[in-house]
Amino acid sequence: MNDDKVFYITTPIYYVNDIPHIGHAYTTIACDAVSRYKRMQGYDVHFLTGTDEHGQKIQTAAEAKGKTPQQLVDEIHLNFKRLWEVLNISNDDFIRTTEPRHIKVVQAMFKKLMDQGDIYKGTYTGYYCVPCETYVPENAMGPNKTCPDCGRPLTIMEEESYFFRGSKYVPELIKFYEEHVKAVMPKIRYNEIMSFLKGGVKDQSVSRTSIKWGIPVPGDEKHVIYVWFDALINYAAAVGYLDDPEKFSHYWPHVRHMVGKDIIRFHCVIWPLMLLALGINLPVEVIAHGWWTYNGEKMSKSKGNVVDPFKMVEEYGLDPFRYFLLREVPFGNDGDFSELALIGRINSDLANDLGNLLNRTLQMIKSYRDGVVPDCVNAESELSSMAFNILDRVDEAMNNFAFDEALKAIWEFIGRANKFIDETTPWKLAKDETQAERLNFVLLNLYEALCFSALLIAPTMPDTAKKIWLQLGLEGEPVKMLYEKFTWGGGAGKEINKAEVLFPRIDINEWKKTQEEKKKMSEEIKEPAIEHEAEISIDDFKNVEMRVAKIINVEEIPSSKKLYKLEVDLGYEKRTVCSGIKAFFTPEELNGKTVILVTNLKPVKLCGVESNGMILAASVKKDGVSEQLTLLTPEKDIPLGSRVS
Ligand code: ME8
Ligand code: MG
Repeated sequence: MNDDKVFYITTPIYYVNDIPHIGHAYTTIACDAVSRYKRMQGYDVHFLTGTDEHGQKIQTAAEAKGKTPQQLVDEIHLNFKRLWEVLNISNDDFIRTTEPRHIKVVQAMFKKLMDQGDIYKGTYTGYYCVPCETYVPENAMGPNKTCPDCGRPLTIMEEESYFFRGSKYVPELIKFYEEHVKAVMPKIRYNEIMSFLKGGVKDQSVSRTSIKWGIPVPGDEKHVIYVWFDALINYAAAVGYLDDPEKFSHYWPHVRHMVGKDIIRFHCVIWPLMLLALGINLPVEVIAHGWWTYNGEKMSKSKGNVVDPFKMVEEYGLDPFRYFLLREVPFGNDGDFSELALIGRINSDLANDLGNLLNRTLQMIKSYRDGVVPDCVNAESELSSMAFNILDRVDEAMNNFAFDEALKAIWEFIGRANKFIDETTPWKLAKDETQAERLNFVLLNLYEALCFSALLIAPTMPDTAKKIWLQLGLEGEPVKMLYEKFTWGGGAGKEINKAEVLFPRIDINEWKKTQEEKKKMSEEIKEPAIEHEAEISIDDFKNVEMRVAKIINVEEIPSSKKLYKLEVDLGYEKRTVCSGIKAFFTPEELNGKTVILVTNLKPVKLCGVESNGMILAASVKKDGVSEQLTLLTPEKDIPLGSRVS
């Protein structure tokens, strides 16, 4: 294998405690598209993704669920694996930081740096949230030095810690970046990193004694290795840094990390400093993409507006979703996700441009030439010369990770092919015997344009490319082909298959109607249909967090017959909750009552109000409607926030 044609690309390893959302989907789809593209260019590609499984948050979440951290991560890392299957991701490997192959490399590297004096013992001082058991960096603190998660005041804490002498290698790293201006992309991120480096970099604390769930420091087991030091090493561990020197030296010189702009300092400063200290080559490129918002808003769990990729794929199809993410924003920029914008692209780019080209062409080959692709004396045309031109443009764009540019170029070609039909008017040629050769030329060219389009879109939309391929009467799969093997005119004599619609158009008005109906349905409070639910385990029950709370304010929701908007006090925080008990109480009756609140329900919007919990009540129902209802309330005084079990 030609050593220049090796391509090793990585996604960040995702924190398992988060639910996978479009941000994660985006990075991974981008890496998938470029991997598939490079394979079609004849590269030996290694595409790595994985999960980051250590740290305080996992430890806390596991304790709350009565599980060991290992049990918890064994379950929840599957959310990511499942998503990559659904998104048709072609990764060659998936690494978890709890695997022995990772752990032993982290420990070996830590030890090597300790032995050579680049890791030393010192004291770490930082702002610490005692209840959350976590340090909060100064740039993430809430107002008046409070915890961004729970809002409580932070305290200064000191602990013994190991430090990595990264500062020693900063001049060498600056020199490297001066000589490799494309090592951080895009340019704006390169500049950001250079000015950060020139501003001075302190040695990093790389161990903690306050956390248990992590990789122990070799020889000093009361410390665990800091998660980021641990996590970054996955990229080297996965390609055999310790165990398989041959594999490592094959792939490592070609490594590229794709990341969101949120984590470039770790990838462009800390990681390269670690590599310099270890005497390992620096990555060829770190490519940073921008941030997705949803309908113009930052996505967050508390707002409940996190875009679920599983749901998007189910509703709009996989390939339209992949296409949209890569086409919609110039790579590196921030982007906004909206379903209306997605539908717009489905209707215009996919249904109109690509879908129509396929349909019209297959239809004509069927009616004018009995479904067999005709041959002609010379198939060279404007389309053929444009095709190879476009491939060059696509190649340049893909090498710069400019997916939007690549797709734009491809759609120029598709547009040109549609125009070619309008200009050559095959339906007129078909009526004139003397134009038979001309018609053959036109049909063969259109057929070739479609073959070529299928190859061009294959990295982004592998399934669609395959469907087109089948309709064109071709065997195999475009993603498995090589671009260099394609020849214009090779399709003569092929028998086409039945034309099928690739992308049904979505009627915007119908869509809006359905959305409103769905919204209404979710706003109605649904009662369980069965009297006895299925059995659950004690663990399932433990997952429900219930606490004592006091109703401190009651408001009407004018648009709702059933709901009140309540403010409740949990002692440690106040919350807004919607409760369907309007029919049974006046606001005065409710105000001041002590109740039991389910506190860990996913927030929902009811009649436009976000509800953060559910108040427990017992009721007698007839036909699903409550006839009598009483609130559950503690039989003695007990502090607000006390847990119910
Ligand atoms: O940071 N828009 O993991 P993570 C675009 N474990 N991309 C987004 C996004 C958004 N709104 N939200 C997340 C970690 N991402 C560490 C990484 S690597 C050695 C350790 C993507 O689960 C983006 O790629 O928080 C970002 O860098 C990544 O998810 C962070 O994932
Ligand atoms: Mg994150």
